[in-house]
Amino acid sequence: MHHPLLVLLVPLGLLHLPSTLAWGTLGHRTVAYLASLYFTPGSTRFTNQLLHGQDISEAALFPDKIRYIPSFAYTKGWHYIDAQDDPPTTCGINITRDCALETGCVVSAIANHTERVSNASLPTWQRGQSLRFVLHFFGDVHQPLHTEAEDRGGNEYAVVFEGRATNLHSVWDTLIVNRHAGMGHEDEAIAAWTWAQRLAAAGRGGGGQNEDEDVCLRDAADCALEWAGEANAYVCSYVLARDVHGQDLAGEYYDGAVPIIDEMVYKAGRRLAAWINAIVEDVAFQDLERLDPEPLLQTQMK
Ligand SMILES: *[C@@H]1O[C@H](CO)[C@@H](O)[C@H](O)[C@H]1NC(C)=O
Ligand SMILES: *[C@@H]1O[C@H](CO)[C@@H](O)[C@H](O)[C@H]1NC(C)=O
Ligand SMILES: *[C@@H]1O[C@H](CO)[C@@H](O)[C@H](O)[C@H]1NC(C)=O
Repeated sequence: MHHPLLVLLVPLGLLHLPSTLAWGTLGHRTVAYLASLYFTPGSTRFTNQLLHGQDISEAALFPDKIRYIPSFAYTKGWHYIDAQDDPPTTCGINITRDCALETGCVVSAIANHTERVSNASLPTWQRGQSLRFVLHFFGDVHQPLHTEAEDRGGNEYAVVFEGRATNLHSVWDTLIVNRHAGMGHEDEAIAAWTWAQRLAAAGRGGGGQNEDEDVCLRDAADCALEWAGEANAYVCSYVLARDVHGQDLAGEYYDGAVPIIDEMVYKAGRRLAAWINAIVEDVAFQDLERLDPEPLLQTQMK
């Protein structure tokens, strides 16, 4: 269907494409940074190796940068699961109905790329690419409108934000997030790092590393489906709970959305950390050694 080597041939200039269809870049960066705060030393080493020392928040943006490149068209369907439910009356995901076999969905993509990250018989660059997908899709599966078919996940639902015409999907991906966590920082990575620190401090509650134990880890597709269901429930309870067509959502709607976004970004980051920690625990010691023959040198180079 596609040639794996193409990924190495994408000229960098092509990467500057619109990327408005997933948690905006700030949300994705924050999920990745937050996860990194909870990594075991082995996970830090493992991710640095597979990403060749690239900043983890930057690595999490890769899937949005490539999705409009024709040779990566096959990845588009992986960013969401289109629940054909009936909000706000009924919410719920049915994997058979909502995850098309030909295109895949965010649930099947998390399962596929989890397997590939762990698979020591794949070349390192392919595992690195799959890690970038995992970092990204943990964000997407926690965004309520990435788990909803209605109005194409809100893309065709016209609203206003701070006086400007937009759509509900962008409000959730980007506009609320940027206003909540992006203001006052010129550098988006710093804004994301600051927000991640804030969420970690608020959520720590004495749990620390042990919080890993509360995270679903039994089966990739099972857990991803459970998380998608949790995000999808917010579509009925808040996102589409009342008709907001044409309304400016920067007021009371924004106030109600912020705690949901904080919660889902926090959960995405914590779950991602537990996930990577579990993968690394399973990865054979030889595999880490093979990936990382000279860890000290690598760290200095970064
Ligand atoms: C899920 O969808 C499939 C295919 O449309 C259908 O056959 C099945 O009954 C549905 N399951 C539930 C629990 O609704
Ligand atoms: C799993 O990921 C690989 C690499 O991106 C892709 O070629 C393959 O089609 C994916 N498989 C499924 C079932 O999504
Ligand atoms: C690991 O990747 C190899 C090569 O693509 C494949 O044959 C094998 O089935 C994969 N392992 C698992 C557990 O999926």
